[in-house]
Amino acid sequence: MNITILGPGAVGSLWACYLQKAGHNVCLWTRNSIPSEQSLSLSANENSSHQFKINDKQALIDCDLLVITVKAWQVESALLPLLPLLSKETILLFMHNGMGAIDNLKEHINHHPILQATTTHGALKENNTNVIHTGYGNTSLGPFNPLGKQCQFIQDVLNHSLPSVDWNPEINIALWKKLAINCAINPLTAIHQCKNGQLEQLDIHQYVVSICSEVHEILQKEGIEWSYSELLSSVNQVIKATSANYSSMNRDCFYQRKTEIDFITGYLLKRAKFHGISAPINQSLYNQIKQFEENTL
Ligand SMILES: NC(=O)c1ccc[n+]([C@@H]2O[C@H](COP(=O)([O-])OP(=O)(O)OC[C@H]3O[C@@H](n4cnc5c(N)ncnc54)[C@H](OP(=O)(O)O)[C@@H]3O)[C@@H](O)[C@H]2O)c1
Repeated sequence: MNITILGPGAVGSLWACYLQKAGHNVCLWTRNSIPSEQSLSLSANENSSHQFKINDKQALIDCDLLVITVKAWQVESALLPLLPLLSKETILLFMHNGMGAIDNLKEHINHHPILQATTTHGALKENNTNVIHTGYGNTSLGPFNPLGKQCQFIQDVLNHSLPSVDWNPEINIALWKKLAINCAINPLTAIHQCKNGQLEQLDIHQYVVSICSEVHEILQKEGIEWSYSELLSSVNQVIKATSANYSSMNRDCFYQRKTEIDFITGYLLKRAKFHGISAPINQSLYNQIKQFEENTL
């Protein structure tokens, strides 16, 4: 397939390398069109070297699949300028943390087949030319609109490149579950500047429990069937499995970068407001991260 990766940071570069390895014709779309080619080496189980064209307009016009791997808050500004160049058959695949990033774009993109994905693979872009596959995971993929429902074959395309990939016709549920876990882990680890494992300490873990309780009430109103004990035990499992890791929000705050809080806790709070529910602990965490962003960016 002709594939363009919009936003070849850590996740985008990882997929670019694996998709090219699998034989696809992959180009990158970055903020800067100079240089016009980019070498990337992938450090993984088997190291490999890759060469990609950058910001090739004709490749974008011809692309069958556009994989959008910018951060949630970058989606709108990255994608809008490219829309006039795309064929209406181009499949848009969004892969970012959080929810709500494409809601405002819907009317501009709904004539494309749209897919959403969430991944637990870990990637680190050490520098402009090296991407490290830091952790193997899996990817869930599913349709955002009716045209997207006809694109289940993309599961095979991705699965042959970087397994495992499952097709989830109700991807929204998977996204909500990921968001719920992120709400419990990301803001706390960012505010306390701690590794995920430190959330197991009793004095912090009581906040994890309270966050989950608020999140669960909102999940119920959204019609997501997930019991409170399932939610809490999933959060605890992720904390254990990633105990030595820093969350992405922790790193964003550490490096004084804008976070994805508006699309994680911020999205949760929007839905809480819609349902007429208050979520004071999540609100307080949201305010603290926004204050931090205001003071540092
Ligand atoms: N890294 C992981 O292990 C991991 C795992 C699971 C999920 N995720 C999620 O995946 C998403 C991407 O994460 P990431 O770690 O790959 O972030 P990242 O390294 O910051 O990648 C984002 C890329 O998008 C580029 N970009 C931003 N605006 C653009 C524009 N207008 N046009 C073209 N390119 C643009 C950025 O370029 P600049 O460098 O010029 O800003 C950067 O290269 C996030 O939602 C993250 O939470 C990440």
